[in-house]
Amino acid sequence: MEVKLRIRRFNPEKDQKPYWGEYTLTDVEPTDSVLELLNRVKWEQDGTLTLRRSCAHGVCGSDAMRINGRNRLACTTLLQAIDASKVIQIEPILGLKVIKDLVTDFEAFFEHYRSVMPYFVPATPVPSNGRERYQSQADRARFDDTTKCILCACCTTSCPSFWASGQYVGPAAIVNAHRFIFDSRDGATNQRLNILAEPDGVWRCRTIFNCTPACPREIEVTRAIGEVKLAIQQGAR
Ligand code: SF4
Ligand code: F3S
Ligand code: FES
Repeated sequence: MEVKLRIRRFNPEKDQKPYWGEYTLTDVEPTDSVLELLNRVKWEQDGTLTLRRSCAHGVCGSDAMRINGRNRLACTTLLQAIDASKVIQIEPILGLKVIKDLVTDFEAFFEHYRSVMPYFVPATPVPSNGRERYQSQADRARFDDTTKCILCACCTTSCPSFWASGQYVGPAAIVNAHRFIFDSRDGATNQRLNILAEPDGVWRCRTIFNCTPACPREIEVTRAIGEVKLAIQQGAR
């Protein structure tokens, strides 16, 4: 089958403003991914098209983009899952500076991520018997969902609260804080909750819910944010 792509293009070194590039591809299969189509445009029609990608299997989180108005990973979005009978519109994710074409600058995103201490701070010394720190299955299940994050930014860049103020720490950072806040072995829960209780923390979330359907890992993002809000209201764990 034939498909038409409309891709937002912008090269700050030569373009005054962004524009739409239009491309037609033939011999396309419904099982082709949007990433495969973008690669074909780049390899067969215009080598200057710039995009970020690595694993091509939904693992690395590097090819988040807006496809037909919705944040998705290009590599896991098959044509049969979207309306390919009309022109497929592809844009960079919103709220981050565009470096070139579909590539955005993730520095602000990772700054928010780093700000919530997204790493394990042991609550107890290494056990003297040299064994691991035990955790019950129920305690492990408490944060299982938020371990699945691949830091693709689909959630944060779908959030109107983040679009309005890039200072908002954003759902991805909160998800990664949640993963440690609810880990029974961690000793920095209060520090993280204090960070997230700041004005640019969780209270900037207005429960708009864009983030949850945007997550390619099907993490219950809004629920995780709600749990962190509740933990702050109730004081420390
Ligand atoms: Fe991506 Fe989901 Fe992680 Fe957000 S929570 S960064 S959408 S994987
Ligand atoms: Fe934004 Fe998600 Fe909250 S879209 S306002 S972080 S529920
Ligand atoms: Fe790695 Fe899509 S290229 S997630």
